[in-house]
Amino acid sequence: MLFSESGASALVRKHKRVRMGKLIGKQMPKFSSLLWSLALPAIFFLPLPVRSDDAVSNGRTTFQTKCVMCHTSLKGAGHSTGPNLFGLVGRNIGTANGFNYSEAMEERKNEVWNPERLDKFITQPQKFIPRTAMMFVGISDPAQRSQLLEFLGSLKNSE
Ligand code: HEC
Repeated sequence: MLFSESGASALVRKHKRVRMGKLIGKQMPKFSSLLWSLALPAIFFLPLPVRSDDAVSNGRTTFQTKCVMCHTSLKGAGHSTGPNLFGLVGRNIGTANGFNYSEAMEERKNEVWNPERLDKFITQPQKFIPRTAMMFVGISDPAQRSQLLEFLGSLKNSE
């Protein structure tokens, strides 16, 4: 009796193994089509870096027409009317060494300059940081702002 019971459960185990094998066999083609569905969009997005280079150079032009009278952008360049903006993205607000910020900007120093905050600031500086000493009306065109952000984001040590 005991013997036949364990024989039966061995059969069940074998049956389960066979079913698992079939299942894996069925999943394989799905897996490869999953790979394809991941690879195709990757191919589609390959031209992106090129577009981003264009954005950086358009952003540089905007910087040169609207910001350069008050800001330097090169590493190690001194401050001007406004602080040097090299390494801005990822830096805390109002913390460039040796620049004398307004109280309004210093009060925000535990916030980090990320693209969202920069976008708001550049849209309307006086609205994002009321009483900031930056006398600039803002840029209302979202496309122009996003290109400028690409340029500001490129002001960092290359890895
Ligand atoms: C008329 C001069 C002037 C112009 C034009 C100007 N800025 Fe400023 N900017 C300043 C000053 C002054 C400050 C410091 C503000 C403060 O202390 O409140 C500043 C601060 C900043 C900061 C904060 C930096 C930090 O270290 O936290 C950013 C970012 C910035 N400016 C970006 C820009 C960009 C981008 C433009 C062009 C679209 C621009 N500014 C145009 C004068 C200017």
